[in-house]
Amino acid sequence: MGSTAEFKNPATSTLFELVKSRRTYYGLKGESPISDDAIERIVQDSVLHVPSSFNTQTSRVVLLLKEEHQKVWDIAINALEGLVTAGRVPREMFENSTKPKLNAFRAAYGTVLFFVDYDSLAPIKEKFAIYADKFDPFAQESNAMSQYLVWVALESEGFGANLQHYSPLVDEQITKTWDLPASWKLDAQLVFGLPASEPADKSFAPIENRFKVFGK
Ligand SMILES: Cc1cc2nc3c(=O)[nH]c(=O)nc-3n(C[C@H](O)[C@H](O)[C@H](O)COP(=O)(O)O)c2cc1C
Repeated sequence: MGSTAEFKNPATSTLFELVKSRRTYYGLKGESPISDDAIERIVQDSVLHVPSSFNTQTSRVVLLLKEEHQKVWDIAINALEGLVTAGRVPREMFENSTKPKLNAFRAAYGTVLFFVDYDSLAPIKEKFAIYADKFDPFAQESNAMSQYLVWVALESEGFGANLQHYSPLVDEQITKTWDLPASWKLDAQLVFGLPASEPADKSFAPIENRFKVFGK
């Protein structure tokens, strides 16, 4: 059981209510509780205002809605089907498990594609050579912060969402389909839509085993 101390600012309580209600929703409908402009604002603000190491601003994001979103999952289905044909994935597993799962993503309203532009780090890696190997993981960490913020904000507005990772399987087709710069490396796909089912039960390891405080 964690601390239940009161906050000074009610917005802090609201923030943590939203944090607690963010869950993984797999059952999603191709409907939206808000305007496409409001979705765009969530995604843009989550890219603009999330920090990055040395303010390198390495995250790149593509918002895909409706038919454009469906294309992502057609690409994934085709890619996985290719693996079946090549004998690398059993057909039965694809038909019974993988394909229905991908079709469930396809049935949602939108997908946010999160990329990192590692190439843009070349000058700073040269300038701070001693940290050179840290910049790529820092860029991923910053990207993950944007992923999380979009996830929380979309669910705050009534969406359900789930986070997927089909890279590198889908990378080439995604770059080609939306004519994206070659330096944008895909990290994650956040699928969102109107919730059609409840999230699964979730257990929590005791916070006492994961947190220490000193000097209180
Ligand atoms: C970094 C990261 C990667 C994840 N990758 C996937 C994924 O590829 N596919 C998936 O279905 N869920 C993925 N998830 C979702 C987690 O399984 C999920 O967040 C976790 O089980 C806790 O459940 P909750 O999101 O309902 O709180 C990922 C989550 C995180 C934070």
